[in-house]
Amino acid sequence: MPNKVPPTASPLTDQFGRVVDYIRLSITDRCDFRCTYCMAEEMTFLPRDEVLSLEECARLVRIFVGLGVSKVRITGGEPLVRKNALWLFEEIGRLENLKELVLTSNGSQLYKQADNLKKAGVKRINISLDSLDPLRFKSITRSGELGQVLAGIQAAKQAGFKNIKLNSVLMRGVNDDEAVSLVKFAIDQALDISFIEEMPLGEVGHSRASTFCSNESTLKILQAAYPLLASTETTGGPARYWKVANSQTKIGFISPHSHNFCEHCNRVRISCKGELYLCLGTDDKIELMPLLRQHPHDDQAIIAAILAGMAIKPLGHDFDLNRSQPAVIRFMSHTGG
Ligand code: 5AD
Ligand code: SF4
Repeated sequence: MPNKVPPTASPLTDQFGRVVDYIRLSITDRCDFRCTYCMAEEMTFLPRDEVLSLEECARLVRIFVGLGVSKVRITGGEPLVRKNALWLFEEIGRLENLKELVLTSNGSQLYKQADNLKKAGVKRINISLDSLDPLRFKSITRSGELGQVLAGIQAAKQAGFKNIKLNSVLMRGVNDDEAVSLVKFAIDQALDISFIEEMPLGEVGHSRASTFCSNESTLKILQAAYPLLASTETTGGPARYWKVANSQTKIGFISPHSHNFCEHCNRVRISCKGELYLCLGTDDKIELMPLLRQHPHDDQAIIAAILAGMAIKPLGHDFDLNRSQPAVIRFMSHTGG
């Protein structure tokens, strides 16, 4: 039975008093794209038995929700390339105490799956979009079809999804000239958009320092093009939001290099291998997969491990562009952003 805990005493409280009520779960390391900032051209993916089964994913989410988690984001890789992913969304969508089931996707499968995801109870979708130029889109993703993603965005709107958010990674000399056109697209389509600074994750074959494009410079360019109103809204994460006057569009800026959000951090990540990462920027993790497999019918050992994790959640993270080695050498597709 899941624990019954009064709301004022969440068991998922860390040593700094931060309450974790949000988990991000990567359900696959695979993806149909190979974005230059995320993956190498040739990737070796994990063998199937080293990845959580969908049943194990559902069990873990149920345990976390029993411990007070109210928001779950499913990520990847590209979650929608996993066979039967819809089953998992339906299982999670049925959990009583869950308030928000959300999805991060590259959009390539949404033209087929948006309707069913909505019916399963998915509340919101974040869709990656780094360019509106088909050739450039193909070159950044190394394989993606822009038209298919744009069709996916339309399908998500038609399925009734609200507050769809685009995620754009701008890189100097690659697509940093598209900030205004991406925002114009978001305004025209009544979408939100977040600009994510490139993070030093994984080995991707180019130097981040040379392509790094700061959100500060992007904000200046956008302020010259649109009237932007600062918003006090926060999701407990690293984003700062601005509202575009006379539109439905909010612009977020996600600056993983700034530390100022760590004190409000409300989240942990679970990789597709069942590793519980307490912080995006450090390597502290707890292996949950062996426990899931050793204790198929009793959640206590897993609950104990998660609670032990809370005690070692670090106060902040440690990215540094000027280091020769990334602070954390792990692919985003394992830990799910
Ligand atoms: N830096 C910044 N963003 C990244 N993403 C993937 N890898 C990186 C990286 N190294 C983004 C994708 C997607 C989101 C989930 O994470 O573009 O929008
Ligand atoms: Fe796939 Fe997203 Fe990584 Fe691109 S950023 S390769 S879409 S997981």
